[in-house]
Amino acid sequence: MFLKSLASLAAVAVAVSAQAPNWGQCGGIGWSGATTCAGGWVCTYSNPYYSQCLAPSSTSTKSTTTTTSTTSKSTTTTTTTKSTSTTTTTSTTSKSTTTSSTSTSTPPASTGFVGVSGQKFTLNGATYTVAGTNAYWLAQYSNADIDQAFSDIAAAGLTTVRTWGFNEVTSIPNYGAYYQSWSNGVPTINTGSTGLGKFDYVVSSAKAHGIRLVVTLTNNWSDYGGMDVYVSQLNPGGTHDTFYTNTKIIAAYKSYINTWVSRYKNEPTIMAWELANEPRCSGSSGSASSACVTTGATINQWASTISAYIKSLDSNHLVALGDEGWFQEANPPTYPYAPGVGIDFNLNLKITTLDYGTFHSYPESWGQTANESAWGVQWIIDHAASQKSANKPVVLEEFGVTNNQATIYQSWLNTVVSSGLTGEQIWQAGSNFPDGTTYNDGYAVYPGSAVYTLIEQYAATLKSRG
Ligand SMILES: *[C@@H]1O[C@H](CO)[C@@H](O)[C@H](O)[C@H]1NC(C)=O
Ligand SMILES: *[C@@H]1O[C@H](CO)[C@@H](O)[C@H](O)[C@H]1NC(C)=O
Repeated sequence: MFLKSLASLAAVAVAVSAQAPNWGQCGGIGWSGATTCAGGWVCTYSNPYYSQCLAPSSTSTKSTTTTTSTTSKSTTTTTTTKSTSTTTTTSTTSKSTTTSSTSTSTPPASTGFVGVSGQKFTLNGATYTVAGTNAYWLAQYSNADIDQAFSDIAAAGLTTVRTWGFNEVTSIPNYGAYYQSWSNGVPTINTGSTGLGKFDYVVSSAKAHGIRLVVTLTNNWSDYGGMDVYVSQLNPGGTHDTFYTNTKIIAAYKSYINTWVSRYKNEPTIMAWELANEPRCSGSSGSASSACVTTGATINQWASTISAYIKSLDSNHLVALGDEGWFQEANPPTYPYAPGVGIDFNLNLKITTLDYGTFHSYPESWGQTANESAWGVQWIIDHAASQKSANKPVVLEEFGVTNNQATIYQSWLNTVVSSGLTGEQIWQAGSNFPDGTTYNDGYAVYPGSAVYTLIEQYAATLKSRG
């Protein structure tokens, strides 16, 4: 242990030429990159899997580390590492030319917008790793709970959280956040403290914890209102898929989008806008027009129009569809490769105003319960192949099983890493709040559990893969 620390001290002394960039990773289990920071910044311990270069003045209360040790976090190591990094800090600070004025309590990671280069995400000139989770419920909790959720997520080394930017209501709820209320076909956007004002807090807390947000703007499902409220209010009696074609509905949805996008257009904490959660042709009524069902053209056309609209308002943020990644194969091996729901993943990936592709994996809901692990592995491999042909990032942005989670997630996450798939976001990391745990839909995993630890480990692995 002691020798190892001496060895890493020696490595620090010679490794001056390869320094991690501001805000970049500089240590953690499995990390083999630079362990010192450029410009006098300080390599700061975040958790066993992740240390990050932070501005000197923002690091006073945390112990710093330059170790890439894959061994345990013993007291001896910690103590030794602390004194090591004190030395490092002093010496690197003395040659600092760019001690940042952005530090103090300014959130570490929320400078610069997440961008795309080929099949990777970028941030401030480095690769940005999407290793994250979904927390659709954030705005429905108290501010203290929101802080706790982001704190747990950040401590796990996750970078990215997908959350809901919609809640359509037809009567005002007496708790939680809602963003649009409807009466006789007239929508009213709630910009107050129970609406967008509340979402401002979600953004500020994410920012304070160095987390980026993917914000989804409507729902295929009727949870939190979604598309079916637009249809019932503006095209009563219409099928669910008229959401994608009815001109009054498109205008109303654009108006809603305009309010959100204009409000946060210059906010780097938001990584991406997402057009919908799991858009499909059929809705609660189970019926859809045949044009929507038999081809991917309806949703493809809609996704082109809406994503281009967002880009016309906001060139800072990425835009994604939020679909489940269905293919339209002539001889589909299983249901999710078959035409029918109205999504053609490869066609949608060609839309120039969509910056990256999304897909989900729920074999239990998709008739693959007997073959979950292998089916999911193939599903990931097939989307990674689409990613390569389109030369755009693709993210497994929701995945879940309710049985054998650790074994199945490990096989899937190994496949994410080995296939070169750009990123992943589990459905869903939960938190333990003072007044109870976050809602468990059967998929939630909580800090301290084996599956949660697995997610932490793969976040570190993906960061080091790049
Ligand atoms: C779309 O939403 C409806 C409920 O409104 C549901 O019946 C249908 O299965 C959903 N499709 C998905 C999974 O996107
Ligand atoms: C399980 O899924 C894989 C990948 O799709 C497939 O190759 C295999 O034939 C499936 N096995 C069974 C028993 O369905």
